[in-house]
Amino acid sequence: MTLLALAVGGRGLVDPGKPVLHADDEAFLRGRAAFETIRVYGGRPFRLDDHLERLAASAERLGLPQVDLVAFRGIAREALDASGERDAVLRLYVTPGREGGSYPTALAMVSTLPHDLDERRARGLRMISVQLGIEPGVRADAPWLLGGVKSTSYAVNMAVELEAQRRNADDAVFLANGRIVLEGPVTNVWWRRGRDLFTPALELGILAGVTRATLLESVAELGYRAHEGMYPVEELAGAEEAFTSSSIREVMPVVELDGAPLGDGRPGTAAAELQGALRRAATG
Ligand SMILES: Cc1ncc(COP(=O)(O)O)c(C=O)c1O
Repeated sequence: MTLLALAVGGRGLVDPGKPVLHADDEAFLRGRAAFETIRVYGGRPFRLDDHLERLAASAERLGLPQVDLVAFRGIAREALDASGERDAVLRLYVTPGREGGSYPTALAMVSTLPHDLDERRARGLRMISVQLGIEPGVRADAPWLLGGVKSTSYAVNMAVELEAQRRNADDAVFLANGRIVLEGPVTNVWWRRGRDLFTPALELGILAGVTRATLLESVAELGYRAHEGMYPVEELAGAEEAFTSSSIREVMPVVELDGAPLGDGRPGTAAAELQGALRRAATG
């Protein structure tokens, strides 16, 4: 991805090649900041309201001052217009600002889309399962674990992506103790048996994906039943097909889990149908 345009709260458009944060911003010092990643279709950020709502909720859980959503809309629009790109990645960040101060920084950045998404969708992803080492229900009762918060403390998620590459795979799924399926490092996870679709419940402390919510709205009209719950990884491994969902990657088929073929080892029909429904919702 290449950064095309950058706008900063209170300043407006700035040169994307110039630094904008202080060295003692807590976003950098301690990974304490909230962010959102949004796909832009034909110049329109998809479900911007939902992303802004989640950004405000994440910021609140991180103890940041209330997010000025009107200002965020403004800098998002400025960055989008300046980028000249109709199909792009829009990222919003709110940082606490300088240590000891109380001036949060709001950033809106527009970047190019990753170039290989359709090729990966056609091929399907090889996935590994990795332990997160927590009890499945613990995050619901432990707000300090920041379950469901989209914070910039993503080093673990990125380390897992590297581990997947090291094991010759493309993506990963986190498991709680008891081998309960949670989510991917940057995606929600789904699988299918017959006309039944399964995805882990939000009560497990996973991120409430905006794409996940969009897909749940489309499931019934495509003739599927959706189930949200607490499922062991064996359910995923024995599924007829599996896929992930996220704003930028959209619906990505999974064709292998821990080195074994998933279903018939090819991208599945529900993934293709839901990808179609997502695109219709985003561009219709
Ligand atoms: C941990 C995690 N789960 C799920 C998702 C998918 O969320 P969304 O569909 O809102 O992009 C993301 C997206 O970045 C994520 O980081």
